[in-house]
This record gives sequence, C-alpha cells and structure tokens, in this order.
Amino acid sequence: MSVSSTRFRTSVRRDEFIEWIKSLLLTPFVLHAHLQPAGDIDEPRARRYQRSLAIADARRRYATIWFDIEAVISDHRRHRRQRLQTPSKLQILVPTVGDFFTDLPLRDAFLLVDQYRFISARRFVSPSFNDIRHVLAVAQLLAHARSGGLKLATFDGDVTLYDHGQGIDPDSLVLPLLMELLKRNVVVCILTAAGYPDGVRYRERYHGMLAALRQSNVLTDVQKRNFCIMGAECNYLFRYCGGPSEIERIPESEWHLPEMRKWTEDECTRMLDVAQQVMEECIVLMKLPAEIIRKQRSVGMVPTVERLSRETLEEVVMACQRQLASQSFDVPWCAFNDCDVWADVGDKAIGARCLQNYLGGIPPEATIHVGDQFSAAAGNDFRTRTVGTTLWVTGPSETVEWLRLFSDMDENTGKKL
Ligand code: IMP
Ligand code: MG
Repeated sequence: MSVSSTRFRTSVRRDEFIEWIKSLLLTPFVLHAHLQPAGDIDEPRARRYQRSLAIADARRRYATIWFDIEAVISDHRRHRRQRLQTPSKLQILVPTVGDFFTDLPLRDAFLLVDQYRFISARRFVSPSFNDIRHVLAVAQLLAHARSGGLKLATFDGDVTLYDHGQGIDPDSLVLPLLMELLKRNVVVCILTAAGYPDGVRYRERYHGMLAALRQSNVLTDVQKRNFCIMGAECNYLFRYCGGPSEIERIPESEWHLPEMRKWTEDECTRMLDVAQQVMEECIVLMKLPAEIIRKQRSVGMVPTVERLSRETLEEVVMACQRQLASQSFDVPWCAFNDCDVWADVGDKAIGARCLQNYLGGIPPEATIHVGDQFSAAAGNDFRTRTVGTTLWVTGPSETVEWLRLFSDMDENTGKKL
C-alpha cells in the first residue's frame, strides 16, 4: 500500500461536513445544470430564455437540498439536546460532525450567496468548497441577526482582522465595523495566538483601534470597556481602560477557569521543551532557514527567509503534534502553522470559555468566533467550534464583507430575506 505524504496531508485537512454537502449538491449540477439543451438553439433570445429557465430550475433544486440539510441539522440538534443514545442521521452520515449551537437558515443563505457567486448559473464549475463555506457563514450570520442574541464576538488576529504581522491602523476597513458591534453592546475580543505579557506590542499593533475608542463620543464608557484582547491563545487577558495606558492586564484570579489553576510553570516548560526539540531537529535535518523563538507560554519556529513552503511548515507542525501527542502533559497545548510554526500552552477554545465565564456566563449560541484557521490538523481556530458558533474566513477582506452584510441584516432584523 502506498500513502503519499500529499494524500495524508489532504485527508487530515479535509472538512468532512463540507465535503458531504458538496457531494449532495453534485446531483443537481450533473443532472440539471450541466446538460442544458440551450446550446442547440440558434436564435439568441430564445437561447437566453431557455438558459434562464435552466438557471431557475437549478436554483430551485439547490435550494431544496439546502433546506433538507437545514432539517438534518435541526434533527441533530434535537438529538444532542435530548441526549438521545442513538446517533442522529447527520452523525451517521458525517461521523466527525460537531455541535451546532443555533439552527442555520441555509436555504435563505444560499439564495443570498447565489446572487454574488452565481452558483446556479454555472454549467462547468460545480458547487465548490468555498461556495459552501460562504453559505454556511451567511447562514450563521442570519441566525444571529434573527435571534438578536449575539453577545460576544471574538476575532482571530493575523489573516482575519489584518494581514500577517500587521495590526489595526486608523484607516483599517474593519475598524468601524468593530466599533459598530461595540455600539450594539456586543463584547469584541481579539483572540489571538500572539502573546505579549506586558501588552506593549498590543498597544502598537492595535493603535488605530485604541485611538478610535479614545476619541469616540458615540460609545459609552461601558461599551468601550467591552473591547478586550485575549493573547497567547488563553494566557493573557487585557481590557480597554481609557487613560494613558489604554489597556490593562486583568489579574488571572478574575478570569482563569478552575482547571487552569493546575497549570504549573514546570509542566508548561516541559511541554514547550519537547516542542522546541522537535523544531530544532527539523531545522537541522531539513537544513531549514529558520530560527526558534521561545516565550513564557509558547515556542515558535520562524523563517529567516521571506517564506517557507506550505509543505515544509506542515511537515514541522505535524512532527511537533505527533511528538507532543505521544507524551502526556498536565497542560493542554496546541501546535499550528501559519507562515511560521508555533506550539502554545492552551488553545483558543479555552480562551473563549474564559471570556464567556468572565463576562457573566455567555452561552455558546450567543458567541461567535471569526477566524481563518479552521482546518482540523493544523489550525488554531478549529477548537473554538466546540464552544461557540464560528465564521471561517480566508482573509481580512472577507471579514469586512461579512461584517458589513451582518450590519445590513441587523438593521432589517435579518427578516428582509
Ligand atoms: P493569530 O492568527 O492572531 O492567532 O496569530 C498567529 C500568529 O501570531 C502566528 O502565526 C505568529 O506569527 C504570531 N505569534 C506571535 N507570537 C506568538 C505566540 O506566542 N504564539 C503563537 N503565535 C505567535
Ligand atoms: Mg489567524
């Protein structure tokens, strides 16, 4: 049997739920969207008319499937709620599927997404992973808009709010949208792997956001204080406080979960040493142009050239994960790659739970995490799926696009659709 490294990598990176939806949408595509007889009609207007009928037909068929998936998700939620012993239909069909904390109006979302991704009009390109990701995201936003119950929005930093290594400048397009969420009494938290215990780099990187908060006479002081930063996955919590220091570090005693009191420095060090050793070995064996950065709660392998290939980064992260998983530690950890590779103490699911708890018990259905790293194998946003609803973006422009859409939906109580 031969298993190539590429196949191994794709198989662990695949999102089975999305792949399952893709397979369902293939039937209308193959049977109805692709084989249109319109090409045989010579008269242009008649041909266009025939095509538009075919597009409407494909749209109706796709919409029906999305509506059926909606029902399967509702049934799955009922199973979980009632703690039924038998697996739900969805669980049988997609064994790796997790929890859904809200119903998802997928049919309505599809009709909206179809207007700008032209899914039903396509004859040669079938509904793709990204088409489905868009429908899921818009459905999640519609669900929040309709319930009006969103209380906590956490945002990954790099590649979600800004490009890698950047921050929130005064002219950032996402800034007014974050301010708008605060105005609606939603707590906005940057939930990032980047860890700076003294907060200096957060002040530098988020100077545009902090200046906007300082200057705003639209937001109340309470609303301004609803801007937080959870750094190093779940290790440092900062909150806007006004005054010259702008953000203050909140003492751990106020927000740590009981389970975190058992995380000793020795155990953190032991875990980080193991990860560091693997990274160092990779640098030597593969002759990688990279260096190690060690912090209190994390260790990273950062390229010393402009970039390392995705394959190289994934090789290193998977080597770290395998070595860490082969030992047991009294601290949770996560290892992921972006343009670099990091192993951190804790993860963003713990970070989000700390926030939910600290803010007085915000439930998962009132929480959303927006991030770019949702692949199961090496994404550090992935685990937030267990503690709240999520939005999977590919970069800051999608974050802006979807927050704008959400703002539009909300003004219309999400019912315009
Ligand atoms: P995020 O996307 O906001 O979670 O940030 C991830 C990026 O932050 C990584 O790819 C690193 O480039 C950077 N980073 C800086 N410090 C740390 C750290 O202590 N742990 C993990 N990532 C870090
Ligand atoms: Mg990111």
